[in-house]
Amino acid sequence: MNSFPSLLESISDLNKNQIDGLLSLSTKIKQQESESQIFTYRRPIIATSFLENSTRTKHSFAIAIQKLGAMYIDFNAETSSLKKGESLEETFLTLFNQGVNLCIFRSNVSHHLAQFRNSLPIKIINGGDGINEHPTQALLDLFTLLELSPDLSGKTLAIFGDNIHSRVGHSLIKLLPMYGMKVILCGPKNFLPDPSTLPLNVEISMDRDETIKKCDFIYLLRIQKERHLENSEKNSSLEGDEYLKQNGVSLDLLKKMQKLVPVLHPGPANIGVELDLHLIKSSLYKGYLQVQNSIPMRMAIIQAMLENNDKKVGKVHGENF
Ligand code: CP
Repeated sequence: MNSFPSLLESISDLNKNQIDGLLSLSTKIKQQESESQIFTYRRPIIATSFLENSTRTKHSFAIAIQKLGAMYIDFNAETSSLKKGESLEETFLTLFNQGVNLCIFRSNVSHHLAQFRNSLPIKIINGGDGINEHPTQALLDLFTLLELSPDLSGKTLAIFGDNIHSRVGHSLIKLLPMYGMKVILCGPKNFLPDPSTLPLNVEISMDRDETIKKCDFIYLLRIQKERHLENSEKNSSLEGDEYLKQNGVSLDLLKKMQKLVPVLHPGPANIGVELDLHLIKSSLYKGYLQVQNSIPMRMAIIQAMLENNDKKVGKVHGENF
């Protein structure tokens, strides 16, 4: 994939051919686990730099890097010179000049990476930026959906919960319509975006039960309490039992509605809020399949980006005197 971008900030950075290529490579990696080490000579160096907490994304990238045979460093922002006021660009250039080929970066600031769009200090994969996007999670979710149902065209996925703060939701609404899917964003009014901002084939609903009736896949989201507090939105309907009754999804509800469809969740899940314990322990729950699929998809993304032969990366100070 020679034209693969060196900055993966958004699903918009990829075209359908590139996404098809990632899906095909992920399938091969998943099927041929033992042959996955591709970097045996001149091993690239890959860093993770997570300025916000993570269990799934950070560790699956760390595992993917090591399975590919690359060298892994965990850049710790807290103990780095970022704390002495060094800029993010100087930090990335320092890593690049130490021989680091690629950095996976997470931040609580939306569009934090946009500053590098025209002049890139190092190859970067967005591991989630504020409430903007989480493209690698959406790609592994698509990979999982295709495993569950090889033809997604005409199928509907409903995303329940805190849609307005969901970076993976923002990536999914760009990605899934490319594969012929319809997406319904469902939740209380203050969790839903302005419908006029939505792409084609994406709609909103405040009616949970009607939405469940219409969908082929359920995708649940955690309430991002930390981001509600940032916005000073205190609301008792966000509390566990009440939220589960009105807006969450339980196994009992799906049984009563005779709608036993796969349930996805990007994690972390809050049991007793957006879903109940019986649902997460049932065979409908696909959250652990998503976690399994994160490794081959993230290996495929790393491989495609490292193989792109982009000579412009790291040439930020280009003028000669
Ligand atoms: N899905 C996801 O981004 O999970 P983490 O926050 O644990 O990385």
